[in-house]
Amino acid sequence: MDQTLLTKNDYENFQKFLETACGIVLGENKHYLVTSRLNRLTTEFSFSSLSEMLDALQQGRDKVLRERVIDAMTTNETSWFRDKYPFEMLKNGILPEFAKAKPNPNPLRIWSAASSTGQEAYSISMTISEFQLANPGTLPGRVEILGTDISSTVVKSAREGKYDELSMARGLSEERKRRYFIDNKDGGWSIRPEIKQRVRFSELNLMNSYALLGKFDIIFCRNVLIYFSSEMKADILQRMAQTLNPGGYLFLGGSESPTGYSRDFEMVRLPEGVVYRLKKPLPKL
Ligand SMILES: C[S@@+](CC[C@H](N)C(=O)[O-])C[C@H]1O[C@@H](n2cnc3c(N)ncnc32)[C@H](O)[C@@H]1O
Repeated sequence: MDQTLLTKNDYENFQKFLETACGIVLGENKHYLVTSRLNRLTTEFSFSSLSEMLDALQQGRDKVLRERVIDAMTTNETSWFRDKYPFEMLKNGILPEFAKAKPNPNPLRIWSAASSTGQEAYSISMTISEFQLANPGTLPGRVEILGTDISSTVVKSAREGKYDELSMARGLSEERKRRYFIDNKDGGWSIRPEIKQRVRFSELNLMNSYALLGKFDIIFCRNVLIYFSSEMKADILQRMAQTLNPGGYLFLGGSESPTGYSRDFEMVRLPEGVVYRLKKPLPKL
């Protein structure tokens, strides 16, 4: 048999492994996706076939292999100011609301919950700077942005905050490029310290507890729920609701919605699009 092919049994076991490990649900006919993403690792980890590597994975002894497989199977696609409208809504609709709530001794806390290589978290930080520039003195407190992702590779790269020309070309205007980046003159660009200083990154599997993160005012959880099962979506949304401060906001991806999975959020329509707000608890009778 071709050493790069998967038996029905291998495929089904791998589906179970991936869903248990990180919530990702693999459809029935994604054999090509699995083989194309994992074959390279078979050679790197010196297995004689993909099937043998998946056996070792099931036994769970090699933590590095497990991490590398999850890394290979996650889609890290992202861009600056992805879809534009969430960042416009943040600037025009949501930050003014928090800015009015002065004096606030607590920092405004924002979570980018599947932050990939950092573009989303840094775009939020740039939006904060632009809001502060346009509305001097109205958001005087500290702003903290936390980016988390399951993949240690993307978290490391997000922390570094260095991007090549290809990533820079995805969603950044020339003006923002000049304003928020330092040209390293080697084809790479580094995010400026004033944008970086509000942003921290750490590894987090969204299937695990959020208790250590503290509470947030705004959560961006964009373009990741689509990969999960209905139960997992409901579970994540419920725990995100518990992680939001009263009146907090949740941004989802363009094709994602809490409808059918959570009753904790109400839809808020702003001129640029839709965002979700944590509902007020019902008064006790
Ligand atoms: C398509 S990217 C979205 C990035 C960004 N939010 C955006 O909209 O541009 C999805 C990210 O979710 C991460 N991811 C997948 N499963 C995860 C899990 N169980 N816990 C945390 N992050 C996960 C992947 O590593 C990947 O970086």
